[in-house]
Amino acid sequence: MEYLCGNFIALKPTIHPIDKSRLSTVDFNNLPFGKVFSDHMLVADYEDGQWKTVRIVPYGPIELMPAISALHYGQAIFEGMKAYKNAEGEIFLFRSQENFKRYNLSSDRMCMPAIPKEIFIDGLKELLKVDSDWIPNLENTSLYIRPFGFATDDYVGIRPSDSYKFIIFTCPVGPYYNQPLHVKMSEDFTRAFPNGTGEAKCAGNYAAAMLPQKLAKEQGFDQLIWLDGKTMSKIEESGTMNLFFVIDGTLVTPQTTGTILHGVTRDSVIQLAKHHGWKVEVRDIYAQEIVDAHFAGLLEEAFGAGTAATIAPIQSISYQGKRMELPPVEEAKVAPLLYNMLNDLKLGHAPDPFGWLEKI
Ligand code: COI
Repeated sequence: MEYLCGNFIALKPTIHPIDKSRLSTVDFNNLPFGKVFSDHMLVADYEDGQWKTVRIVPYGPIELMPAISALHYGQAIFEGMKAYKNAEGEIFLFRSQENFKRYNLSSDRMCMPAIPKEIFIDGLKELLKVDSDWIPNLENTSLYIRPFGFATDDYVGIRPSDSYKFIIFTCPVGPYYNQPLHVKMSEDFTRAFPNGTGEAKCAGNYAAAMLPQKLAKEQGFDQLIWLDGKTMSKIEESGTMNLFFVIDGTLVTPQTTGTILHGVTRDSVIQLAKHHGWKVEVRDIYAQEIVDAHFAGLLEEAFGAGTAATIAPIQSISYQGKRMELPPVEEAKVAPLLYNMLNDLKLGHAPDPFGWLEKI
């Protein structure tokens, strides 16, 4: 499908539309997270040192060889981003350049070829145009966008692959978390180590978290708070989201030191809070400090921040066998305010002093 002009391989996708849209089968009033897929996906192949055959095709199975190294050694990365449609029918992308940059940081760490902007950003916009009817506009809904890439060499041996696939599919979604969360600090397992892959959005980080997460679920927790792998004393992130605490009127979040994902929502929260003159601290946070703040009556709020999770309030935190019940989330001030401010901005209903929004 590629069209060659001399040595130049065009990166604009060719479009191969679906015969019959599945749109009419979707209940947009009742959208689960990550189970409904839009009609089309964008696919590109990396071979002979270049990206080629960029195409938009019906969402569906892809044929792969059993030896592909992504399946054996986990040379695979992904991103999570969202598009929004407001009541007026306008469509917006939120900070897509940040996801593009982070994707290429992850690809660099996992020894994969960088993806050009013409495929990641311009290709995504083409995909959004083709599937614009799939972008929901009811309250608390959006179009979740999942760009991902993986090694496709049919070869059993440990070395970076020579061939890759890049795909973007999209899902109309409702909230990732429907309830305030009960979380537990992970004391038996760790997610990341200094100089490891903690800040890369690579598949293996998430696979390694599944057993600890499953065990925590069996104990009645919704999520884990990961502690640093070296001392198991400092709070890092939560796997599906970054973490924020309101301690005695100050918004506090862990600094990123290579083991924590540079969350786009995390950065947006920090910038918004600073813009509004709130007290914000980005620093080491010790698990014990959270316990002390709680028992001193100073731990006012805790919440997660992520693309999928948005702003997710935390109701209780458990550590060393003790459960700390936070003030009722219905009384929280900071998390709902941030949620509403971000939501209004993403829908084009509030000023965008940062230039985060792009109308499609
Ligand atoms: C996202 O927030 O987009 C993520 O990638 C988290 C994922 C585990 C749903």
